[in-house]
Amino acid sequence: MQSLPGCVSKGDMAYLTEHILLRHRDVPGIKTIDVYMAHGGYQALDKALNTLQPAQVTEMVKASGLRGRGGASFPTGLKWSFIPKDAPTTYVVVNADESEPGTFKDREIIEGNPHQLLEGTALCAYAIGACVAYIYGRGEFRTLFVDLQRAIDEAYQAGWLGQNIRGSNFSLDIHLHLGAGAYICGEETALLESLEGKLGMPRARPPFPTQYGLYGKPTVVNNVETLANVPPIVLHGPEWYRQFGTEQSPGVKIFCLSGCINRPGNYELSLGIPLRVLIEECGGGAPEGRAIKAILPSGASSHLLPGYNPELPLDYESLQAAGAPLGSASFIVLDETVDIPWAIAKVTHFFKHESCGKCTPCREGTYWLEDVYRRLLNGRAWPGDVELLLSIAEQMNGNCFCALGEFALCPVRSSIEHLRAEYEAHVPQGSR
Ligand SMILES: Cc1cc2nc3c(=O)[nH]c(=O)nc-3n(C[C@H](O)[C@H](O)[C@H](O)COP(=O)(O)O)c2cc1C
Ligand code: SF4
Repeated sequence: MQSLPGCVSKGDMAYLTEHILLRHRDVPGIKTIDVYMAHGGYQALDKALNTLQPAQVTEMVKASGLRGRGGASFPTGLKWSFIPKDAPTTYVVVNADESEPGTFKDREIIEGNPHQLLEGTALCAYAIGACVAYIYGRGEFRTLFVDLQRAIDEAYQAGWLGQNIRGSNFSLDIHLHLGAGAYICGEETALLESLEGKLGMPRARPPFPTQYGLYGKPTVVNNVETLANVPPIVLHGPEWYRQFGTEQSPGVKIFCLSGCINRPGNYELSLGIPLRVLIEECGGGAPEGRAIKAILPSGASSHLLPGYNPELPLDYESLQAAGAPLGSASFIVLDETVDIPWAIAKVTHFFKHESCGKCTPCREGTYWLEDVYRRLLNGRAWPGDVELLLSIAEQMNGNCFCALGEFALCPVRSSIEHLRAEYEAHVPQGSR
């Protein structure tokens, strides 16, 4: 494979030599509009406004193979194409809620390279014919969004937002809205409810937001990282983007690395790269050379990946085949010193706390899961408690109103499936 600008080939993989999303690591000051524009910023929007029809922008994003980076991995261009062509009012909503434990990538984009997000948002709005976009931010990120508002103001002053952008007939206003720090408001329909000023609880789907979204109008909801990918795709073309990653999982991805690891942080890599590159080359392995017992590859809502397979390719298909979907790619490493029931009790507590209470299986199920974990960890487990955990999970499975309830089951079931002995060790012999 031949190397293109921004990447170098090793074997059949393209490795990044400079960042595409986390560009502030290579270009100091790129968070300001002057530096951003001096390094190619807003050229993609300029190109779209002057040379591309809205449908062509959608086609480019489709051809790039970009999938949503918020967790569900839905093809981005396809989602945009669902917006009815004749809809008089449409919206773009940027999901910047980022509340998944172990996920901290969107925050870095907003902090370091905000104009790339704004440009991606504008390209999406142009493609779907929206003239208003909202960025829904995580409530706890208050200071971060003061800076993002500054970037929005700069974009207005420079004529990249507002009426008749750069003399075109495209106009766009971007509004920032902060949530109150509820994980469920990252779920797109709960987010829309919250944005409308209602209680942040999910809506029934279908209809999906592309048909019935904000204020009942067709709406694209996209993650921050997803939209930050769009300007380089439009500027350099889908083929350039496809140099990174694999045939089925093209492009670059920010991997959030945390837990038992020497160098935690965000790492922007080509999809498909072997796990060892992330864990060893980037993260420096587990502290004191300890063995890795398991990995949660998608934050708290992960299926547990037992052991450590250094050659596992980090792409959507390989992780799915390994039984632990990539999701938002938030790798929480658990080394040999970690007691697995203790770790999963923590995430179960999180889900119980964040359950919105709308439906009984999730509201009650997460409560009872946490109760059993508490017994288990206090040395007061009953025989059959491991089966009881599985039974509660089974009763929740498929019966929850939204994906949060299902997320809560993933770490519980998969950890028992793979590392049951760790659970049994918590059940005292001879207890009632
Ligand atoms: C409980 C729950 C929490 C979620 N939290 C987020 C979040 O914080 N950020 C995000 O982008 N997507 C989150 N999602 C996924 C969104 O519902 C939606 O799929 C995503 O914003 C779509 O954008 P994308 O296609 O660009 O990934 C969450 C989903 C669920 C069920
Ligand atoms: S599954 Fe949980 S978070 Fe989702 S609607 Fe039901 S109670 Fe609310």
